[in-house]
Amino acid sequence: MPRRQIASTVAGPSERWRQLAGTALAPGAIHFPRYLPLERQRALADRCRALIDGEVPGYVPVVRGGGRMHVRMLCLGRHWNGRNYAYEPTRTDFDGLAVPPLPAEFRRLAGEIADLAGMRLDADLCILNYYDRDGRMGLHQDKDESGASLAAGIPVVSISLGDTARFLFGGLKRRDDVRAMLLESGDAFLFGGPARLCYHGVTRIVPGTAPPELGMSGRFNLTLRQYDILNPAP
Ligand code: SIN
Ligand code: MN
Repeated sequence: MPRRQIASTVAGPSERWRQLAGTALAPGAIHFPRYLPLERQRALADRCRALIDGEVPGYVPVVRGGGRMHVRMLCLGRHWNGRNYAYEPTRTDFDGLAVPPLPAEFRRLAGEIADLAGMRLDADLCILNYYDRDGRMGLHQDKDESGASLAAGIPVVSISLGDTARFLFGGLKRRDDVRAMLLESGDAFLFGGPARLCYHGVTRIVPGTAPPELGMSGRFNLTLRQYDILNPAP
């Protein structure tokens, strides 16, 4: 069994403390390695699989310039339209179906992670992405949430499951230096406050690195966000 796996299975109090304390990459950007124990990873991965292959399935968005994204996406709570980069209640850029609701447990999990970072997040949407072995995502900012949410620095909480990703995290300008890091299964990553509009992306997936207990290949990434801080979801 690889060493990391043993650590996550039998994490003692000090290892767990380190995981929960997180590592600050920049003010407002915190990495919580292996935040989710294996059992929680497995339950969440099962839920993601059921959602993305469900009645309102994940699909590969085509973006503004006409290019296809390199992920399979399913939005929950609010739909992000890849054609105009706006949120909407139905998938007008794809099949016209209503966006499925955000599961309460996703909202709770995001709030729990934000609390640990000393921030507030009452998520009203999740973008669930599935990366196969060729999946990737170019450097971009998450800036389509409401102006009030962005101005308040309400964080984005990201949770990774399955194969490891090589993740880039940069600054507020595209040309700023970027830092490469690995996001592994169970990791949480949060960027809010002064880091809310930092550029980030995924350069590659490391196939075969998912914990075998998850029974999956590829990677799920959930980003939980709060579009609206003036009219939070009930
Ligand atoms: C995203 O930037 O929306 C996804 C990031 C990731 O997959 O880790
Ligand atoms: Mn993003």
